[in-house]
Amino acid sequence: ELAKLRRIAALRSQVAAWRRAGESVAIVPTMGALHDGHLALVRRARSDCDRVITTIFVNPMQFNRRDDLSGYPRDEAGDAAKLAEMGVDVLFAPAAEEVYPEGYQTRVSVPLLSDCLCGAARPGHMEGVATVVAKLLLQSLPDAAYFGEKDYQQLLVIRRMARDLDIPVRIEAVATVREADGLALSSRNLLLTPAQRDQATAMYRVLSELAARLKDGRTPAQPALAWARAALTEAGFDPIDYLELRGADSLQPLERAEQPARLFAAAWLGQVRLIDNLAIATG
Ligand code: PAJ
Repeated sequence: ELAKLRRIAALRSQVAAWRRAGESVAIVPTMGALHDGHLALVRRARSDCDRVITTIFVNPMQFNRRDDLSGYPRDEAGDAAKLAEMGVDVLFAPAAEEVYPEGYQTRVSVPLLSDCLCGAARPGHMEGVATVVAKLLLQSLPDAAYFGEKDYQQLLVIRRMARDLDIPVRIEAVATVREADGLALSSRNLLLTPAQRDQATAMYRVLSELAARLKDGRTPAQPALAWARAALTEAGFDPIDYLELRGADSLQPLERAEQPARLFAAAWLGQVRLIDNLAIATG
């Protein structure tokens, strides 16, 4: 049976009761409008731990445009039905005033990992993510927390934050869930027209081809990246926010795919911004 909790105190006492019974606890933070990508995190959490908390909180601190926040898709009843079916124990869905009461001030920032890629175009975004995830981890004190590789930079920021603040929670990564043609699942995919949906497949195709070209670890990245940017433009993406090769742990730019390396892309189809990233396999 799925319990819906809105207060931090109620969450803490539920977790305390599980702890007294010797049960392990997982948390899956989300902003709702759940799709199969989110549910893959829930499934992993469910198989690793005795109890699973899913949080739904559309975090105002991580949005830098007001209309983006108010336009964010919300479907709590539909989400609750999916979570109940997956055997989630608690849906924690606090109000904004519960998380950021009058007088709230503290922010958590992880500057070096936050200021590049998605953080460059969205100032304050990664700080908002790090702050809310720190709060959710401290509110629930679970054994493990689950995040998708779809948002790889976010995952690294959260890992670093938990390590730096000595928050005793395992941060677990889950591989990106994709459509049959490779497009990474995202709630934004629903905003694509049928023609744009066809074009969108190019993002994964181009990243895969680029990974193949760079995987020997010796090929200079810049010409291959220029080819890939042109291929994305050709497919209809405009503008391309970034398409880069970076160290998979440091996020520092690389000249060639020395391990561990990862490709990162963000680009627009009409009004829709799509992101994706891909590991470059060794050998
Ligand atoms: P949200 O966009 O709802 O995503 C919640 C989690 O689902 C994130 O860890 C994200 O990486 C993961 N996810 C999304 N699409 C995925 C896919 N196709 N495959 C695998 N995992 C996927 O990310 C956030 O919310 C927020 O920033 C949050 C971490 C909750 C903090 O507010």
